[in-house]
Amino acid sequence: MASRIHILPENLCNKIAAGEVVERPASVVKELVENSLDAGAGEISIEIEKGGRKLIRVTDDGCGMGKEDLFLCLERHATSKIASDDDLFRLRTLGFRGEALPSIASVARMVLRSRPADVEEGMELIVDCGQIRKTASCGMAPGTVIEVRDLFYRLPARRKFLRRDETELAHVGDVVTKMALAHPGVQFRLLHQGRSLVDVRRNENLRTRVAGLLGRQVAGQLLELDSDGPDGRVHGLVAPPDLSRATSGAMFTFVNGRAIRDKVVQHAVMEAYRTLLPRGRYPILVLFLDIDPAEVDVNVHPTKHEVRFRRQGQIHDFILASLRQ
Ligand SMILES: Nc1ncnc2c1ncn2[C@@H]1O[C@H](COP(=O)(O)OP(=O)(O)OP(=O)(O)O)[C@@H](O)[C@H]1O
Ligand SMILES: [Mg+2]
Repeated sequence: MASRIHILPENLCNKIAAGEVVERPASVVKELVENSLDAGAGEISIEIEKGGRKLIRVTDDGCGMGKEDLFLCLERHATSKIASDDDLFRLRTLGFRGEALPSIASVARMVLRSRPADVEEGMELIVDCGQIRKTASCGMAPGTVIEVRDLFYRLPARRKFLRRDETELAHVGDVVTKMALAHPGVQFRLLHQGRSLVDVRRNENLRTRVAGLLGRQVAGQLLELDSDGPDGRVHGLVAPPDLSRATSGAMFTFVNGRAIRDKVVQHAVMEAYRTLLPRGRYPILVLFLDIDPAEVDVNVHPTKHEVRFRRQGQIHDFILASLRQ
């Protein structure tokens, strides 16, 4: 009997992985902006058209990639961020899988331009569904520009799951807001069809950043929190009990600089506010938990929205105690 089992072509493997990494325009924006942050960018601009389904362009002034790296970055499991298993437990970067760019490239048309500061000119790659079509040198400022066009254009089944432009745009806005909150030192711009939706400047402090993103009124009312302990540091801006919302949409929680929706963190926060807020109300807060990277596993879910704490109970109580102060 002829064999029925075969190895999938690499491009197909990428698409399967991409199904997990790239759900919608907002996931592309998240991956590209994370790369810009890991590249040490001070300015990041995100331009999108038609909610991101037609165009997503992320421009940064980060370290850039030399020629060789520009080709390599499209290979699966090609990363500059980790080298061994142990590195997974001392992560200082947002990326580590070497999965994002090949996944995105396999489901869209992509143009990559990059130039390290110490090189005279940039290099451009034109990629179509994971295949490099054209390479050329190009004039550009140091940094990286990545353009993603026509997301899922050869995957009608995936395209069907995309929502209206306004909905996709709202998800993109949410992702950009979270990253901008976590990096008040970095300039962020978000433009949709040329219209500016986010525009916050470099070297801001957290309160100014919150004012620029969530409004001056909210920013003015939030209370500062900073608590150091043996388990790490909890800091940020949190609402007084008379400032609450009907949804949890303004509870921004971060673990080691990553926007996270975590049950342990969420529960600790709600527990702290339990006696202070009426039922069904949620606090507004921007809360950062900084702990030893060895204490938290980020490699749990492809989108990295979830983490696993080594000592859940301790972390829970630390957050709770910090908020109660
Ligand atoms: N904007 C950028 N500036 C400089 N280098 C970049 C940029 N984007 C990607 N790179 C380089 O390309 C590599 C591959 O990027 P990719 O996002 O695919 O993987 P990663 O960030 O290493 O891991 P992950 O899949 O978890 O995001 C990175 O490790 C980095 O070296
Ligand atoms: Mg990445």
